[in-house]
Amino acid sequence: MEEYYWDTKLDYLKRTRDLYYNDDYFEFLVKFVWKLSKPVHIIDFGCGYGYLGLKLLPLLPSGSTYTGIDKGNQLISKAKELFQDAPYETEFIVSDTNEIELEKKYDIAVSQAFLLHMSEPKKILRKMVNSVVDGGKIICFEPHWIAGMSSYYLDGFDQSQIVQLGMLQKLYEEGAKQTGRDGNIGAKLPHYLSELGVKNIECRVSDKVNFLNPEDNEKDKEGLFHSLKEDGVGEKPEHKEAYITSLINRGVSLDDAVEQYDSVQLFSQVFNINSSLAWAPGMKITFGEITNK
Ligand SMILES: C[S@@+](CC[C@H](N)C(=O)[O-])C[C@H]1O[C@@H](n2cnc3c(N)ncnc32)[C@H](O)[C@@H]1O
Repeated sequence: MEEYYWDTKLDYLKRTRDLYYNDDYFEFLVKFVWKLSKPVHIIDFGCGYGYLGLKLLPLLPSGSTYTGIDKGNQLISKAKELFQDAPYETEFIVSDTNEIELEKKYDIAVSQAFLLHMSEPKKILRKMVNSVVDGGKIICFEPHWIAGMSSYYLDGFDQSQIVQLGMLQKLYEEGAKQTGRDGNIGAKLPHYLSELGVKNIECRVSDKVNFLNPEDNEKDKEGLFHSLKEDGVGEKPEHKEAYITSLINRGVSLDDAVEQYDSVQLFSQVFNINSSLAWAPGMKITFGEITNK
């Protein structure tokens, strides 16, 4: 049987999560924005190896619990392993969020880089909202690809040489129309949550700007460079013809497809461990309150 895609992506997940938020930003959100001062029961949709639990539980009042749901057997095994000696009450469920029926018993439903992979994200959002008790919260950490793509600086190059924003904007929009899966969902979540009746909605931008600094020591540069590569920064495009054909199949003109290939190819050739690069992923963190009042 073919292995489940995300079960093969543990290394990718482990290498890239730290590109998005600084630890002090989580602390700021928990203490000063969400003001979580009493124990809470959290459910994480598409939890992977439990990244959000690992970040949040140490910051939450003692007695807080964490339930993670994911379709990936191996990811859930890894999560169990990572939490087995931790002083927290956790539960991990291997399940498809499209199928699972959940009780309305959690204080906070969270997701991170999950809703963008859903072909019917509003349906899953409703399920998240419905799993939360009156007075609880929903918090979604989700990407806004075009914001991330607009936030590159690679020393020695104009941004337009390495990133074709106009083309990507159309490509992402078309992709979402064709598949329902939307890499720009982060910016739409305030609206979607409002449609679902969620109150006091706010949205924040992730704080982290990654800086690959040629002056840093080799070990630090290697760590960041590999994380950036793993996340697709300066990724080598596949075979030219196949790449261009795949873009044309997604509604891009031949000229734009060739230009896109050339810029991706250039980026992959010039980006190396000694580059000076700044990049902000620009994730959106959208949250609000579930209330019947
Ligand atoms: C990009 S990963 C993010 C994982 C984790 N939230 C993190 O940030 O490390 C997307 C996750 O969504 C999970 N996923 C995708 N579709 C799912 C579904 N229908 N039911 C449950 N999990 C799903 C995948 O298995 C994967 O772990």
